Amino acid sequence: MPNQLIRIKELRALVEKYRDAYYQQDQSLISDAEYDLLEQELKKLEALEPQGLGDPLTTKVGSGSGSVFDPVIHGQKMMSLDNVFDTEGFLAWAERVGPGPYLCEPKIDGLAVSLTYKDGVLVRAATRGDGEVGEDITQNAMTIQGVPHRLSGDNHPELVEVRGEVFFELEDFAKLNARIVSQGGKPFANPRNSASGSLRQKDPAVSASRPLKMLVHGFGVWSADVVSQSAVYQKLTKWGLPTTKRYQVLETPKLVLAFIAELEATRPTIEHEIDGVVIKVDDLATQEMLGSTSRAPRWAIAHKYPPEQINTKLLDIKVSIGRTGRATPFAVLVPAVVAGSQVEFATLHNQEQVKSKGVLIGDTVVLRKAGDVIPEILGPVVSLRDGSERAFVMPSKCPECQAKLGPASLGDIDLRCTNSKSCPAQLRERIAYIGSRAALDIEALGYVSASALTNPVEPEVAPILSEADLFSLTIEKLLPIKAKVVDVDTGLAKKDADGNDKVVDFFRKKNGEPSEVAIKLLANLEVAKTKPLWRLLVSLSIRHVGPVAARALADNFGSFRAIFEASQEQLAEVDGVGPTLAKSITGWYLEDWHRQIITSWEAAGVQLSNPLHKEGPSKADGLFAGLSIVVTGSMETMTREAIESLIIENGGKASSSVSKNTAFLVAGPGAGSKLTKAESLDVLVITEAQFLDKLPA
Ligand code: IVH
Repeated sequence: MPNQLIRIKELRALVEKYRDAYYQQDQSLISDAEYDLLEQELKKLEALEPQGLGDPLTTKVGSGSGSVFDPVIHGQKMMSLDNVFDTEGFLAWAERVGPGPYLCEPKIDGLAVSLTYKDGVLVRAATRGDGEVGEDITQNAMTIQGVPHRLSGDNHPELVEVRGEVFFELEDFAKLNARIVSQGGKPFANPRNSASGSLRQKDPAVSASRPLKMLVHGFGVWSADVVSQSAVYQKLTKWGLPTTKRYQVLETPKLVLAFIAELEATRPTIEHEIDGVVIKVDDLATQEMLGSTSRAPRWAIAHKYPPEQINTKLLDIKVSIGRTGRATPFAVLVPAVVAGSQVEFATLHNQEQVKSKGVLIGDTVVLRKAGDVIPEILGPVVSLRDGSERAFVMPSKCPECQAKLGPASLGDIDLRCTNSKSCPAQLRERIAYIGSRAALDIEALGYVSASALTNPVEPEVAPILSEADLFSLTIEKLLPIKAKVVDVDTGLAKKDADGNDKVVDFFRKKNGEPSEVAIKLLANLEVAKTKPLWRLLVSLSIRHVGPVAARALADNFGSFRAIFEASQEQLAEVDGVGPTLAKSITGWYLEDWHRQIITSWEAAGVQLSNPLHKEGPSKADGLFAGLSIVVTGSMETMTREAIESLIIENGGKASSSVSKNTAFLVAGPGAGSKLTKAESLDVLVITEAQFLDKLPA
């Protein structure tokens, strides 16, 4: 057999195996991207070798229907979509179908379902199956939120088939997996698998207990009197069916390309997963004229985005220690490229989250990275386990200083290293935080500098044993330091080619003179001594004291002395402070070594009372003057607090709740109720990157 035929056979076997796992077992044995590549290769070869191999596999839709549910013959075949992956591919399609208008909408990563309404009553729901015959999931579909059992209005056609996508929102998916694991069940690898698994439960009560959602995007059998896809959507909405509010009808391919780019930018903030944009010729008569192949309509195309999910191996779970001592488990992964960057680590937040995700060390896991945001493990691919996997056990001691890990107060999920003064990890993180944009914004005091200053290769030359030493650094103290190069996410030392810790002369050039970093660091520390009082307060890493509270305290009391001499009651009275924060501040000051920081800083010339000048533009003429802005979800390049502080610096108000007076919401991944509220109130939602773009250079 010629090589090509052998390869076709091989590819068919693979594609069939993965399709079966995907459609029948709700398992993604490989990522969608890897699958797409196999399918594309097969498609090419099948086109080259049309004879002798039976029906080409790539002309088939989905997979055969399963056996648990009764078969349903669709009134109209349920089609798939052809994909393009770039502008060129899209423009070639646009050329083939002719001029617009085009209807564009998100491609939802879910499960295709067909709903049959007879005289306005839902009589049947079915999965796609092989496109001709699906599975009868009527009882389960009846439990999907928002799917009407009876259409609104009257004069409905005798028979309509409505097609759409059933899916889980990301937040609901995480909650569902947590629940399944707590009940001893097997977690799902990703939201799409969980939607499929939840919809194909034998017991409708189980489906009912899962918050599935549906959005409809088309029809099969149809006799209503409309002329365009967008008119169909209007009709479906009028009938009470859930349609996407994110669709647009656009006249030209150029506008469609802009839509594709825009949606991709907001992709990380969308509450469910999307894997591209579907573009449809809006006019139904043109749709009919263009017709379909055996697999997909010619009048529609999916423009796929780069994948946000890949499968990789979870090698280990380690624990890192943050600046307030919090112990955070993180995943060590077989490095893999996802959303354009190489990922090796992913945070797991706390031991409860490790449990609730149901991942074991050694598992193949689904890793998600949306745009620029922090990578996240969605869940394990349970069917790939071989029995060698083991559960993670949260250590009882700090991995860096061996002090006991314990909750800060009874009932806290988070464990903290109790050696806050001299745990090398905590000290390194606090010093790096002082240099960060959120605190004193000291160029040359980044993560690697902080590590060099606190944990040099020879510990006896460490110039910083606590924050107290920061402002009395001298060139003599810096020169002898050899530093380990550490990873900013994990605190782990990077290795050289021989597997030894990578070591560099950090503050000295080869000729023995001070390096640029050393000179910059000392100069910038001088500048930092006169930074606004609130920034100095933030830089102390007192728990709960972020920029908003620090500003309020600085404005009210005017000096460190006044703040730290105030009683808890006096502190708590300040707007934006409150009892928890007040207690945190007075508690902090009770520690001798904390008081020593203040004494030393004062002695080194740090200005610990409000300077006469104001920072930045005055509030009345700032970019955000008079605007109330809310930040929610996780941010990538800086903390939420730092974003809030930029809002305030530019004259705006950083508010904690969304109302109709909110100018806009800056939303990152994990955004929940605030995002929903903003959308329901039609408040503008932007990403962190879009927010940063607004700022003056
Ligand atoms: S229209 C006749 N619109 O993607 C063409 N499909 O990969 C029907 N999908 O089978 C598809 N979002 O299940 C359409 N906005 C959308 C969609 C969408 C997701 C699914 C659909 C289709 C699959 C093809």
